[in-house]
Amino acid sequence: EIPSLKASYENDFLIGSALNGRQINEEDSVQNALIAREFNSYTAENIMKSMHIHPAKDTFNFEMPDKLFALAEKNGAKVHGHTLIWHSQLSSFFYGIKDSTEMVSAMTDHINTIAGRYAGKLDSWDVVNEAVEGDGSLRKSVFLNVLGEDYLPLSFKLAAAADPQADLYYNDYSMTGEAKRKGVIEMVKKIQESGAKIDGIGMQGHWHLDSPSLEEIETSILEYAALGVKVAITELDIDVLPNPRNVEGADISQRAEIDAQNNPYVNGLPDSINVALAKRYEDLFKLFLKHSDKISRVTLWGVNDGDSWKNNFPARGRTNYCLLFDRNNQPKKAYESVMALKENK
Ligand code: G3I
Repeated sequence: EIPSLKASYENDFLIGSALNGRQINEEDSVQNALIAREFNSYTAENIMKSMHIHPAKDTFNFEMPDKLFALAEKNGAKVHGHTLIWHSQLSSFFYGIKDSTEMVSAMTDHINTIAGRYAGKLDSWDVVNEAVEGDGSLRKSVFLNVLGEDYLPLSFKLAAAADPQADLYYNDYSMTGEAKRKGVIEMVKKIQESGAKIDGIGMQGHWHLDSPSLEEIETSILEYAALGVKVAITELDIDVLPNPRNVEGADISQRAEIDAQNNPYVNGLPDSINVALAKRYEDLFKLFLKHSDKISRVTLWGVNDGDSWKNNFPARGRTNYCLLFDRNNQPKKAYESVMALKENK
């Protein structure tokens, strides 16, 4: 067998990647060979979000999602659906809904049509994405405004009815902060108490070289798993650049200049940072292995450094190095350190 991430970790958890439109269209044979070799779970980075898959009340766009399923079938990979109910990249017709009956019917149609189409083929869904604020309160959204917190169990009930076999997840970022963690746990308990099925919690791993700490991540994995659900590490990428928002006295007019100063690796990543990144990935995967009985999947948010959304966040035109493969699709030291954890075992 060819050494790969998916083969090395096959008895531990799925190894996923987000795929962008070019990758789903198989436009780059080198990158697609790498995707086929390394990953056994695919998540659409954008094309299954409501504004793309359901752009108007009676319009569904299944061409790209169908291609993703065909690619997964060809490569023997699973598909993780992202995402059914999310306040962002939301199809605009939802914003016009003011009445609760109409909202229930729109959500029912949305979930039935999309989750129903892929029922039996799809492994798991992010049913609800990013519904909790940093302070633990529920995020304001059109769903919360019109239906109150009942929209949460409703989403899970609708998804379970449309696709009884899929594992159903709640997915969010900053899941290691204490206040947010409490809010998420309280919300998941309410979903469970309503009788709805929820199978897992996705912790988005949009993390940095030094934060959050391994202790915070471990505590969070354990507390979420204690709810009796699976934990997935989703959207993993490690930002190696300084955050321009942290520059003291910075105002928006200075943003471009400050960001240029804080985009220091535009001509290449110094070896010391490349090594620090490898150590960070090694520490994280060691922790994931320690809790592999609780972790279902670890998904990287992109294949190579050039694909990463972090090149455009928190400012556009950055040169970041978040992932396991470099801009030429070559494995980085981080890849080697993740592979080395499983060698001789
Ligand atoms: O495709 C268009 C292109 O035609 C246009 O010229 C260009 C100009 O802005 O935009 C392109 O679309 C961008 C798209 O990514 C594809 O690159 C959108 O503007 C941009 O908003 C979109 O960003 C995505 C972001 O979600 C939107 O919320 C990122 O790719 C995607 O990685 C990111 O993923 C989210 C997860 O879904 C949820 N968790 C957080 C995570 C990071 O924000």
